[in-house]
Amino acid sequence: YTAVKGNILYFTEDPRTRGEKAWHHHPDGILIIENGFVHFAGDPSESPVPEEEVTTWHDYSGKLVMPGFVDTHVHPPQLPIIASNSTELLHWLDTYTFPEEGRFADSEVCREGAVHFFDETLKNGTTTSLAMATVHTESADALFREAERRNLRFITGKTLMDTNAPDFLTDTPESGFDESLSLIRRWHGKGRLGYAVTPRFAVTSTPEQLEAAGELMKQADDLLMHTHLSENHEEIQTVRKLFPKAKHYLDAYDRFGLVGNRSVFAHAIHLRDEESERLAESKAAISFCPSSNLFLGSGLFRMDNAERHGIPVGIGSDVGGGTSFSQLHTMAEGFKVCQLCRTPFSATTAFYLATLGGARSLGLEKSIGSFTKGAEADFIVIDPEATPLAARRCSRTETLEELLFVLMILGDDRFIKATHVMGKPAYTRP
Ligand code: GUN
Ligand code: FE
Repeated sequence: YTAVKGNILYFTEDPRTRGEKAWHHHPDGILIIENGFVHFAGDPSESPVPEEEVTTWHDYSGKLVMPGFVDTHVHPPQLPIIASNSTELLHWLDTYTFPEEGRFADSEVCREGAVHFFDETLKNGTTTSLAMATVHTESADALFREAERRNLRFITGKTLMDTNAPDFLTDTPESGFDESLSLIRRWHGKGRLGYAVTPRFAVTSTPEQLEAAGELMKQADDLLMHTHLSENHEEIQTVRKLFPKAKHYLDAYDRFGLVGNRSVFAHAIHLRDEESERLAESKAAISFCPSSNLFLGSGLFRMDNAERHGIPVGIGSDVGGGTSFSQLHTMAEGFKVCQLCRTPFSATTAFYLATLGGARSLGLEKSIGSFTKGAEADFIVIDPEATPLAARRCSRTETLEELLFVLMILGDDRFIKATHVMGKPAYTRP
């Protein structure tokens, strides 16, 4: 056994419906891991494992030990163009994003990019991502290979885009289908890896390609479908013109069988009521990407609307539209968006969304996002004394909610003391 001492926190429910029953908090707690899986999390006095049987100890007393963060929407190939100044989404895509993604035709760019991506995510405490590769098969292959090497639970897919993009970045309905299928056969369900069928967004796929994406979804019942939805007004107008028969943006996907409980839609800011109702009814998830939505001026996501309709939500960094790989930073941006909408957003809710809520959005709640017995032991260590200012402020907090709130508002990569994958250290802050 491996044993971890610390201020243990994990969620088994949603705090918005279950209140304090949603989380388990053991300030002088212990996490016991057997062969990479959680065996016990709680008070040491209740541990079923005698201390003599523990072979490896990690003492993180006084630090928060919780499940690793889940990033439900990120673009690894956009890492080099993070922080590129633009007035809005379509201009940003044409000016910075598409030229950069074009570089991933080179397999060395793919390999090196994958290494940098996982170095950054682990440093920020993110242990699982739902990631968009580029149109190139090799871009997805390189990410899968690197995730496998690091034993990470990870989902990606080759982007499908056959129109309204530069020639060097387009496939065809046939080639996109064939390349996705070969990636599914190579990687889906291999170890901790999963595949997401990934039409970029309705603007860059023809109806023929979206139909092919629907066919791909039939290749296995646990594939994800990952795309963008209703992020920007000009984008929505373009989709209206391209899909005149669709009732609304979501319907452009729905007509091809792409809306269901395995679907994850990034942004979903400007939704009509019928779209919210359809998302709820189909149990599709939304990835809330506040740092990106503010940076690109896309709009304010209505968390209250998602809550009222009962739509599952996860948190997404959306780097390079987003400005940080830190889920602490992303949660803080989410809080500010909710402030502007006069929607309460508690820190416990934010930490739930960044862990178990994200895992639920990806259909992975049996594997990650919590410390229930048998879960995969991906965990992070957050240091409330990472900076002198935080140490001073945290020493004044009296409740868990207050401590989490300070960590979310002041937090960034400096607060991640360590990241463990299946029990083993994968990153330790120097
Ligand atoms: N919509 C289509 N592609 C993208 C992308 O790369 N980033 C964001 N934020 N929105 C998109
Ligand atoms: Fe995105």
